[in-house]
Amino acid sequence: MHLKEIENQAILEIQSSKNKEELKLIRVKYLGRSGILAEEAKKIPQMLPEERKNFGIIFNQVKETIEKFLKEKEAAFQEQKVKDVLDLTKPGVKIFAGFEHPLAQAEEEIIKIFSTLNFSVVEGPELEEEYYNFDALNIPKNHPAREMWDTFWIKKDKNRKENLLLRTHTSAMQVRYMLSNFPPFRIIVPGRVFRYEAIDQSHSINFYQVEGLMVGENVNLANFKFIIESFFKKFFGKKIEFRYRPSYFPFTEPSIEVDIKIENKWLEVMGAGMVSRHVFDAVHYNPDKVQGFAFGMGLDRLAMIKYHVPDIRLFYENDLRFLKQF
Ligand code: FA5
Repeated sequence: MHLKEIENQAILEIQSSKNKEELKLIRVKYLGRSGILAEEAKKIPQMLPEERKNFGIIFNQVKETIEKFLKEKEAAFQEQKVKDVLDLTKPGVKIFAGFEHPLAQAEEEIIKIFSTLNFSVVEGPELEEEYYNFDALNIPKNHPAREMWDTFWIKKDKNRKENLLLRTHTSAMQVRYMLSNFPPFRIIVPGRVFRYEAIDQSHSINFYQVEGLMVGENVNLANFKFIIESFFKKFFGKKIEFRYRPSYFPFTEPSIEVDIKIENKWLEVMGAGMVSRHVFDAVHYNPDKVQGFAFGMGLDRLAMIKYHVPDIRLFYENDLRFLKQF
């Protein structure tokens, strides 16, 4: 092959090479110890002295040209590599900042709404004494109503007089609060509660409640209806169908339950009623002077309805694909 043809061929290959590895192979092919140019040089001994001189000049030029193109292309690949690592024109990578759990969002929303209705927020202990969870709420030992709340009991400690349990409802905070506060007041108590019961799509063994307690001189069931209906309107942002049902709780008289209609089925979201005289006795309020209503709503159930979550267990599985939707 004529030297100039070799040069053209080499340049073409260099320019269409795709990476450094290909370039290395081209270098070996043309400039290597047994490459194309080395093969050409082997012809020199058979040449006439005049031919040799000319050949030598062109040979060196071709070698230099190929070397130059190889170097340029190598530099271009190097630059590309740096660009890939640090491309200042690329849009930034979004920083994952986390987000609130849907139950936390629902709780925040509930607190906000009750604040506008002049309720203060109070919290109570999850590890509770039997007295506050049951006895003070007119549910003495061996009372059949205790079966309404299947309980996780804490192992008895001989240094401790009280029996401990994981609170089965936020109502445990009612007596604790009233023992150190005087009416009139309006409070809500959001918090986690625990029940030793079968799990299904609307029951969990630990879930959240928001207790409400409003006590004053002339507090009545009409006030309760007004507060709860204002709350529903704001929380759901649209008209929802709900109903009141007569019910029984040992610490309220009369007692009611509130259901919300969802996909043609009624879901129980809240127990409520007028605070019983027995509870006022336990905190030394005069039941002839003050009255009050109390309610305990299932936060998970309200969140299920608001966010269209069909199964309560989804809240506790911590599957990011589910949680990220809120
Ligand atoms: C109570 O817990 C009473 N303390 C409510 C109350 C408070 C009545 C103040 C009167 C005065 P109940 O067991 O029905 O009541 O529970 C209240 C709400 O918690 C239910 O309406 C329901 O929405 C929710 N709930 C009950 N059990 C579960 C569970 N296993 N999983 C999820 N939510 C539940």
